[in-house]
Amino acid sequence: RADDGYRLWLKYDRIADAAPRQQYQRAAQFIASSGTTPGVRTAAAELQRGLSGLLGQAVPVVAAAGSRTGGIVLRVDAQASAGGQALKPEGYHIFSEKNNLVITGRTDRAVLYGAFALLRQVQTRQPLAGLNVTSNPRINFRLLNHWDNPNGTVERGYAGSSIWQWYELPERLDPRYTDYARANASIGINGVVINNVNASARYLSAEYLAKVAALAGVMRPYGIRVYLSVMWAAPKVIGGLNTADPLDPAVKQWWAAKSDEIYKAIPDFGGFLVKANSEGEPGPQDYGRNHADGANMLAQSLGRHDGVVMWRAFVYKANSNGDRFKEAYEEFQPLDGKFDPKVLVQVKNGPIDFQAREPFHPLFGAMPKTPLLLEVQLTQEYLGFATHLVYLAPLIKECLEADTYAKGPGSTVAKVVDGTVDHHELSGIAGVANIGADRNWTGHPVGQANWYAFGRLAWDHMLSPETIAAEWTKMTLTTEPAAVRTLTNLLEQSRSIYVRYTTPLGLHHIMGESIHYGPQPWLAKAGRPDWTAVYYHKADSVGLGFDRTAGGSNALALYKPEVQKQWGNAQTCPLNYLLWFHHVGWRQPLPTGRTLWNELCTRYYTGADSVLWMQQQWAAAKPALDPALYADVAARLQTQRKEALWWRDACVLYFQTLARQPIPAPLVPPA
Ligand code: GCU
Repeated sequence: RADDGYRLWLKYDRIADAAPRQQYQRAAQFIASSGTTPGVRTAAAELQRGLSGLLGQAVPVVAAAGSRTGGIVLRVDAQASAGGQALKPEGYHIFSEKNNLVITGRTDRAVLYGAFALLRQVQTRQPLAGLNVTSNPRINFRLLNHWDNPNGTVERGYAGSSIWQWYELPERLDPRYTDYARANASIGINGVVINNVNASARYLSAEYLAKVAALAGVMRPYGIRVYLSVMWAAPKVIGGLNTADPLDPAVKQWWAAKSDEIYKAIPDFGGFLVKANSEGEPGPQDYGRNHADGANMLAQSLGRHDGVVMWRAFVYKANSNGDRFKEAYEEFQPLDGKFDPKVLVQVKNGPIDFQAREPFHPLFGAMPKTPLLLEVQLTQEYLGFATHLVYLAPLIKECLEADTYAKGPGSTVAKVVDGTVDHHELSGIAGVANIGADRNWTGHPVGQANWYAFGRLAWDHMLSPETIAAEWTKMTLTTEPAAVRTLTNLLEQSRSIYVRYTTPLGLHHIMGESIHYGPQPWLAKAGRPDWTAVYYHKADSVGLGFDRTAGGSNALALYKPEVQKQWGNAQTCPLNYLLWFHHVGWRQPLPTGRTLWNELCTRYYTGADSVLWMQQQWAAAKPALDPALYADVAARLQTQRKEALWWRDACVLYFQTLARQPIPAPLVPPA
């Protein structure tokens, strides 16, 4: 039957091959669970559902294994350890004991994660016999950020409207919420910020808090806490006050009372996410205060409640004459050490805004006293919406692996974020969700892989994009080995291909105005200079690229000397970052043996041609794929091919008006 994509990677279809199926059947004859907490009941129910489907036979849940063998035992044990090592509260251990497989951990959430790990083992056709796995999450807060609005729209959402049905809540709980929670729990996501960072104050009204509480009730058995984005001016907008000054006693009092009200309705509420004094949003600077004044007041309002404040560093001032690259650093770095212990500062992966490739944000490694929460974007605002196939794990991984040199070599962004570099207790990572009410959740079927990959990397940033792509492919598309290899390779290559036909060599922010789709490198007039494309590419008759060395904006100086050395010299700067940091002459020879102009053309042309290769790879896997899903992606790839040519031609022809050179002959077939 046609697969409509609704089940995501949690497909529990019967394993067709009898031999492996029978092996699993022997190892999973029953599930023993004495647990009565919601998390353990959830784990038992999911295992039962998954195994019954995969094995094609009923798998009963019993209270205790007794003398039975060949089953799965769920065990919450506050003292649980693995190989003499303590487990983290969410870490699990799966091992064999008396011919049963035991899934254990210190909390019911740990057992739930272990249950999903065991299902994944079967779904990816790994053996169960002798299984001995221990897994602890490396990052504590693993969050999705929804940019969903009360009216059902989703900012930068390309998969239909919001999944939250505000008009129906709190009475009707769409069954989809439960499936959403299952999907998140299966990849270790333990928190969701349900509304847009450009927040409506309405979410803090009693009417909406009841709705939010109902959602929290659905998420709770899956180990997921609910958070809210808050509008800074809420005390004015819905509180009847005439100020939102963080140092005003009435404002403090309002937030403290609001926090108490929230925790009364949602005892495990996660906390607040705040976008303040950015892109026109109100904030503490409206009252002459700084970000720390605002964040700390909110943190204190949480008082005795177990919640955190995630304060975003995505800020840039209106009409600044500086380089936008530097603005967040200039506002936040001096505040290091000034934040309340309950505050995390949430930093986007790069200094500009979710471009297809960015250098890592210079704040990473520069605020040792503050836990920094990494924000990445899963919705493809600048990466072709739900039309282009772009697997994002390589992008996220590139940022995680970047070395900040904050405490010498090896101080990667991942280690700053997971707290090991500066010994922070709090650690977090957030993905801006690509989820909507489309039947298949993400619009592009392969967008599901980005949701999946985010969760897996949030749990364990040491996993490779390849491993994750293979897992997702097997769980979602096919287990046929040759097709898995083809598709995994296709996923892995897709992001660098996208970079080549849109923004090669370190170009950035040259997309269509406001909608952020398609090319518009000629954009010279917009609301502000740094919203134009020419501001970023700086193309002129001499050359191309943004000089951020000492001779230019000097943004490079925000990085540690080792990083400056890596990127500071136009002769040795890796080509992927070249135009991020240098204005390079059109005729300048590059290490590839081509001039800048010829290299630029080569990348645009080969990038666009690589989409043909992507189409071929997808076609090669056709026999192993569901026909409806095959056709859906094949059609999207046709659009992608057309639009890759659009990007190529728009950019090459525009830059040619300044470079005044021909497109190198071998790239253009004779007429
Ligand atoms: C981008 C995006 C906005 C969003 C903003 C943010 O600029 O285009 O829609 O609000 O990021 O992250 O706050």
